[in-house]
Amino acid sequence: MSDTPTHVVIFDTTLRDGEQAPGFSMDVPSKLNLARALDALGVDIIEAGFPIASPADSEATRQVAREIRRPVIAALARCRQQDIEEAARALEPAERRRIHTFLATSDLHIERKLHTTREAVLEAIVAGVRRARQFTDDVEFSAEDATRSDRDFLCRVVEAAIENGATTVNLPDTVGYGVPDETREFFAEIRRRVPNADKAVFSTHCHDDLGLAVANSLAALDGGVRQIECTINGIGERAGNASLEELVMAMRVRQDRLPYETTINSELLFDTSQLLSRLTAEPVQSNKAIVGRNAFAHEAGIHQDGMLKDKRTYEIMRPQDVGQTAEQLVLGRHSGRHAVQRRCEQLGIVLTTDELALVYHAVITMGENRKAIADNDLRRMVERTRSGERSDAPGHEAVGHGHGA
Ligand code: KIV
Ligand code: ZN
Repeated sequence: MSDTPTHVVIFDTTLRDGEQAPGFSMDVPSKLNLARALDALGVDIIEAGFPIASPADSEATRQVAREIRRPVIAALARCRQQDIEEAARALEPAERRRIHTFLATSDLHIERKLHTTREAVLEAIVAGVRRARQFTDDVEFSAEDATRSDRDFLCRVVEAAIENGATTVNLPDTVGYGVPDETREFFAEIRRRVPNADKAVFSTHCHDDLGLAVANSLAALDGGVRQIECTINGIGERAGNASLEELVMAMRVRQDRLPYETTINSELLFDTSQLLSRLTAEPVQSNKAIVGRNAFAHEAGIHQDGMLKDKRTYEIMRPQDVGQTAEQLVLGRHSGRHAVQRRCEQLGIVLTTDELALVYHAVITMGENRKAIADNDLRRMVERTRSGERSDAPGHEAVGHGHGA
């Protein structure tokens, strides 16, 4: 077995699946702005839009295709001539283009949504993939609701899509129904049963309805997948898609179990996440892994004490590796004396032992009524202490309410 990590293609669909979620729509300049950031971040593929959906979607795809030269630019199209032709038109200026064509393959979708038959679906897929290949050699086919599709039928679909020119086959967990073991076995089975499976790259696209999108995507790698579709901040339909930043950092931090590499510049993850949040006016959940405001913040006294002694006690990666500020010891009612002292030192204030006792007491007292204590609050406490405004100096040492702290 080689020691070189296997490359995983990062297909970013923030501008398509992400953007189509409520509250996340972006105008053309915003999409272009984010596309530049995704390029700098190092994604392999940017899915820029679904051109048939609206003239604005088509225009955004065209502008991204014109300006962004390094990554492949993908456009979504149903397996319909008109969709595919519109996608191809929007992608015309691209340096490297991919048509991503899709059709649902589960009986539920075929019968209840499309009101058609498996055979008609298969025919449309063959025709769609063939038409897309007339515009580009890079064609991705997605079997919508693949994880709830009949396996025998799905195998026929995948074989036909590859036979007719699909170079990437994406099997989405459209409704976020899968669990990790099942997802790994699912991909392994399809790849084992489809005779021409080795002619295409397999891709996963997981939704987060059960909060398992990242876990399922990582499990899919074990089943032979080499492309992951994901979004910044995990945005997307309903509960969203697999979060790009979580996937990338899981692979980086747990190389021992996930021997894969990506071309992502992880130091830009936080800025990219913040940019998306500004462009869509949607805040990032503060406890969101990797890019949340609290992802590297420590307030509990014993955690802060551990951090001051050796950061590895409570951090499995360095905040600066994902573009977050290093060492965020938040002062509040759970804080410890060492953290107060360290913050003061960082602000250029050296306290005597007596002053520290007074300032520390002031911090935990103010923390009873406030979420966090800002640097200016701390400066004022020091000034008041030094001017003799406060003279009460209780001697107890806070241990914080942190877990295990
Ligand atoms: O969730 C899904 O199935 C999709 C496809 C169009 C790829 O977004
Ligand atoms: Zn999706």
